[in-house]
Amino acid sequence: MAIKKVGVIGCGLMGHGIAQVAAQAGFTVVVREAEQGALDKGLGRVTKSLAKLVEKEKLTQADADAAKGRLSGTLELGDLADCDLIVEAIIEDLDIKKTLYAELGKLCKAETIFASNTSSFPIREMGAASGRPERMVGLHFFNPVQLMKLVEVVRTDATDAGVLAEARGFGEAVGKVPITANDTPGFVVNRLLVPYMAESMRLVERGDASVPDVDTAMKLGCGYPMGPFILTDYVGLDTTLSILEGWHAEYPNDPIFVPPQILKDKVAEGKMGRKTGEGFYKWDGDKPVA
Ligand code: CAA
Ligand code: NAD
Repeated sequence: MAIKKVGVIGCGLMGHGIAQVAAQAGFTVVVREAEQGALDKGLGRVTKSLAKLVEKEKLTQADADAAKGRLSGTLELGDLADCDLIVEAIIEDLDIKKTLYAELGKLCKAETIFASNTSSFPIREMGAASGRPERMVGLHFFNPVQLMKLVEVVRTDATDAGVLAEARGFGEAVGKVPITANDTPGFVVNRLLVPYMAESMRLVERGDASVPDVDTAMKLGCGYPMGPFILTDYVGLDTTLSILEGWHAEYPNDPIFVPPQILKDKVAEGKMGRKTGEGFYKWDGDKPVA
């Protein structure tokens, strides 16, 4: 495959995982963050995750060290100019993403493939902002990237067929099963998942059941690995709200996209979920407590 050097932009919840699986798969990876503290935190997460995989004998220490050796961090966007593929995983804000793509379009070599990990925004709008719509796809990974096996590969009307094939090949190379989806709100998974999360919140707002009881119900009644509230904590309440707000603005008459008040209140209080130590649950590190 033509992809050898991969740039990842954003080293948060998703970006660190994408950078890690790409480095584990043998790609040279450079990950860009906006500030040093966030970069250090993200690379620290990679170190911790690799150590966990070694501890569980899913990876040898030598392979973990080699993956670390292929991964570097930077604050300079210019260091990504010669990448064959750039996977963007910055915060879910369309204006900020479009500004970034406009910069990338000016900066990167002509062959670079641009891929957004967005949960909800139109890939075509980012492609247009980059000035290279034919080289733009969605590469939507799932959280936690190290463990979840799916990647949605999203094509727009403008995406070049060769670019789509390369993006699918990259997904397979990092150990995921790719599915191809059109550029519609939420693609496949989030179009089904996010309205379910919002409907769970409305159920609790009405007083029909408690947060832990809804989670227990969906785990034991449907065999889901996590209930909707623990999953929202896992995804991030800010990210979930941004997704719903974006869709609600676009489809104001569709009741399933209305952001629930309980979600807006928690985000306003800074309760973003596992990453801030509290969301619908309180968290002690990686584990939910009462
Ligand atoms: N790196 C390395 N190891 C990790 C890890 C990581 N990032 N995350 C967890 N592990 C380890 C755990 O520490 C654990 O190790 P121990 O057994 O030593 O404690 C092991 O992997 C298994 O973890 P769990 O015990 O938590 O096992 P589990 O069977 O519950 O699996 C899970 C965890 C895969 C996350 C599972 O709970 C699950 O599938 N949950 C649902 C996740 C989901 O739906 N994700 C999609 C979210 S939506 C999205 O991503 C799209 C969007 O745009 C919003
Ligand atoms: P996050 O808040 O954990 O991480 C975002 C990171 O981007 C932060 O560390 C921030 O400092 C950094 N950042 C912001 N602007 C930047 C810039 N211009 N350059 C470099 N870094 C920048 O968010 P996340 O949960 O990792 O989400 C990232 C993207 O992935 C979003 O588009 C989100 O919708 C999508 N996504 C999230 C999940 C999830 O479960 N959280 C799952 C799939 C996809």
